Amino acid sequence: MEQSKKGEDKPMGKVAIYPGSFDPMTYGHIDIVERALEIFDKVIVAIAVNEEKRPLFTVEERLQMVKAFFKDTPKVVVDSFKGLLVDYVAKTNAVVILRGLRATSDFEYEFHMASMNRSLDPHLDTLFMMTSKDYFFVSSRTIKEVARLGGGVEGLVPDLVVRRLKQKFKLPVTKRKQIRWDD
Ligand code: PNS
Repeated sequence: MEQSKKGEDKPMGKVAIYPGSFDPMTYGHIDIVERALEIFDKVIVAIAVNEEKRPLFTVEERLQMVKAFFKDTPKVVVDSFKGLLVDYVAKTNAVVILRGLRATSDFEYEFHMASMNRSLDPHLDTLFMMTSKDYFFVSSRTIKEVARLGGGVEGLVPDLVVRRLKQKFKLPVTKRKQIRWDD
């Protein structure tokens, strides 16, 4: 057993908490988890339950999609939490909050969140990882917008998420008809 900064015994192995809405999970999120596994022994993907945000997918649907993707990765634990993130972190053996940064526009929001979490728990740090260049333009919000309007999001989210988005928006699997101005 090792000692935490608070002096409590914690099991060996570095654990990171990766919190978010994951509504839905994208390859940008997956990229962060996979790179974090190079540094940490375990990553807890923690899906926030926040009714105020009016998510597209229920917590159960989001849990199912994330769990399905990481079903063969025992170093990834998928869970959900209600209330303050710091309270949830305190119930786990995580040593750090992990967040992805896509662009400078993310910085202000992330800086405020990390500072608030640090104020709530001075022992808790947030570690930022830059999103890979292939996914810096990918966000759950734009994925939902594009999918709702019938655009293709293949390659940006796992196939299961593509299928679930189509089901949500009741879109046909077939390609849209091309507009011909001379018709
Ligand atoms: O994917 P998101 O929506 O950017 O994730 C934001 C999230 C869920 C990490 C954040 O809203 C959060 O931690 N919510 C839990 C409530 C909380 O602890 N709020 C205080 C931190 S500012």
